[in-house]
Amino acid sequence: MRHDLSKMTCIEDLRQVAKRKVPKMFFDYLESGSWTQTTLRDNTSDFTPIKLRQKVMVNTENRSLKHTLLGEEYTMPLAVAPIGLAGMLCADGEILAARAAEKFGVPYTLSTLSIASIEDVAHNTSKPFWFQLNPMRDREFMASLIQRAKNANCSALVLSADLQGVGLCHADIRNGLSAPMKPTVPNLLQLATKPEWCLRMLNTDRRTFGNIIGHAKHVHDVSALLSWANAQFDPTLNWDDIAKIKDLWGGKIILKGILDPEDAEIATKYGVDAIVVSNHGGRQLDGSLSSIQALPDIVSAVGNKTEVWLDSGIRSGQDMLKAWAMGARGFMTGRAALYGLGAFGEDGVRRALEILYREMDLTMAFTGHRQLQNVGRDILIDHTRPLSSAERRESIVQQRHRIYEELYGWPRASLRFGTMW
Ligand SMILES: Cc1cc2nc3c(=O)[nH]c(=O)nc-3n(C[C@H](O)[C@H](O)[C@H](O)COP(=O)(O)O)c2cc1C
Repeated sequence: MRHDLSKMTCIEDLRQVAKRKVPKMFFDYLESGSWTQTTLRDNTSDFTPIKLRQKVMVNTENRSLKHTLLGEEYTMPLAVAPIGLAGMLCADGEILAARAAEKFGVPYTLSTLSIASIEDVAHNTSKPFWFQLNPMRDREFMASLIQRAKNANCSALVLSADLQGVGLCHADIRNGLSAPMKPTVPNLLQLATKPEWCLRMLNTDRRTFGNIIGHAKHVHDVSALLSWANAQFDPTLNWDDIAKIKDLWGGKIILKGILDPEDAEIATKYGVDAIVVSNHGGRQLDGSLSSIQALPDIVSAVGNKTEVWLDSGIRSGQDMLKAWAMGARGFMTGRAALYGLGAFGEDGVRRALEILYREMDLTMAFTGHRQLQNVGRDILIDHTRPLSSAERRESIVQQRHRIYEELYGWPRASLRFGTMW
């Protein structure tokens, strides 16, 4: 069955096509979250109750979503997030996704655990991309990765703070996930139903971890790689390491994986250029807050000190506009863009970005704005948005105040300070 790119109207359409085209093992890898997948589900469903205020009879011609991230202007404030093994969702996946992002005018982030190497992606693109760094026990190798990203002219380093270990995704264990695929009977059956994927894979030699094999000590083949990768997750990573990484890198640093306002405060003290409120797309600590629920406290703690961005759960431009209204000033998207990649390669990533753009832009118009920078919290129906802790406390005090007024007929000043109840 041929799928028509022009009929892709939303991210879910791209997801459905990707599901048909990508072998089950890799599609499940993209889809799944850790353990019970509660946080994965909350990431998307927590956007739904937030309602928008429609405004009419306002001139909304000549709209723009242009925005500056780390001093550079982009078509919209969205970057493609780092996704390990993206090159197994579609042959040459990292290069195709980086090209689509480049043409659309948004940043692309290459994962440490990519299939195409840093040098390969740099060679096949024409604008600087961002590089995501996994903390690793082998600090020498980590330093060499930073140097390679510098040599490749990467314009920002995304340090993943939430990789103290591997959040267990049950589907990956059941499917026996590996790159390249092992020729087991179930795997061969999966391949038999995905001829387009197979053909593309046969035409590339990018099928294993390009940043690691042949670069890390004693890792010359895939079997050595798996034991190496598991031993490399570094639970010793701490705040002092940021200063060392900053020294080695010498450029812009984005800290990804912040969910707690205290951590956000500390991050600003260490001088990172932006933080990403993120739970790794629900793949690490299951049971943590969804990103949109975590956002208000973080914005209230550090929104005036650093750029606060958000990822995890964005499936539409409306999600982005809602989070923008709540104070996020940049976004990353993992699955939305990668469904496009699995479905139609480079064209699919471009389509995903177009869909997100169109939805954000039109929603901005319906809420009465033409410049993203003028969009504020007032586009949301106030009682439907997640509140910060301070706002929640204030709202309880006000509620008590109202009850007191109803009961006794006059406001009681002391109640404003919560001293009576
Ligand atoms: C399949 C998959 C692989 C990922 N690999 C990485 C990675 O290698 N490094 C990293 O920092 N984050 C990784 N992430 C997290 C993403 O960068 C991003 O935080 C997440 O996808 C955002 O959630 P969303 O997919 O709902 O947009 C991965 C996410 C997925 C879904």
